Amino acid sequence: MANERKPMMAANWKMNKLVREAEDYVARLLPRVADLTDDVDVAVFAPFTSLPTVGRMAEDSAIIAGAQNLYFEDSGAYTGEVSAPMIKDVGAGAVIVGHSERRELFGETDETVARKATRALDAGLMPIICVGETKEERDAGGMWDKVSGQVRAVMEALDSPSGDAVVFAYEPIWAIGTGETASPEDAQEAIGQIRGLLGELGGEEFARGVRILYGGSIKPANAADIMAQSDVDGGLVGGASLEADSFAELVEAARDSVSRDRDAS
Ligand code: PGA
Repeated sequence: MANERKPMMAANWKMNKLVREAEDYVARLLPRVADLTDDVDVAVFAPFTSLPTVGRMAEDSAIIAGAQNLYFEDSGAYTGEVSAPMIKDVGAGAVIVGHSERRELFGETDETVARKATRALDAGLMPIICVGETKEERDAGGMWDKVSGQVRAVMEALDSPSGDAVVFAYEPIWAIGTGETASPEDAQEAIGQIRGLLGELGGEEFARGVRILYGGSIKPANAADIMAQSDVDGGLVGGASLEADSFAELVEAARDSVSRDRDAS
């Protein structure tokens, strides 16, 4: 990457880790990334049960604690749901919205994703808005139809957000948890296209400032090549984020991409 956007490396724990494991992880991660957070935003998206622990431990550090989902109402008769104020209450500053697992397994639609992103933003939580196509859609040439539709649905709902308040993540579903990554060039092409569309929908300044992450089987071995792409502003990482050491290596890879850009300019 060669731009003024600060990269973000985000750990998506999904449905993993008990409270004690979360505690051990953050205790191990904090010293490893303490010197890197000036250059890289480091975020940990924990399940609701361990989020208060991560939120508390993140309080005096530059790490951002985040939730993996939210509901778009603040309170009321919504059994099993968790709202934006509740998430903020336990020290989180960000929330993943519309992850493909939520869309595919739990029936989230473009409409619910848009409402959730809007609510998060209004409540002062940074939404990480996920978009991406299935293998079948890609093979049938429908990748851009799917992804652009997802981006449009959310942008139509957001009220002129500033570029630093929201983050997008392009996560091709066929690359999630499969070990099969998009090539760095494919990631760049898709994310460049998304940035172009965000320029049309939200203005050039928004498109220049908004961060777009890549997600799907990122690991220490492929992170540098992906991070080197000019439009890729970081990663949303599942499997390789479950060990603090391997996630710290990914944060280092993001930092190295910043240093390379500095040296080159
Ligand atoms: P993965 O998951 O890194 O295990 O492919 C990424 C994600 O789903 O956010």
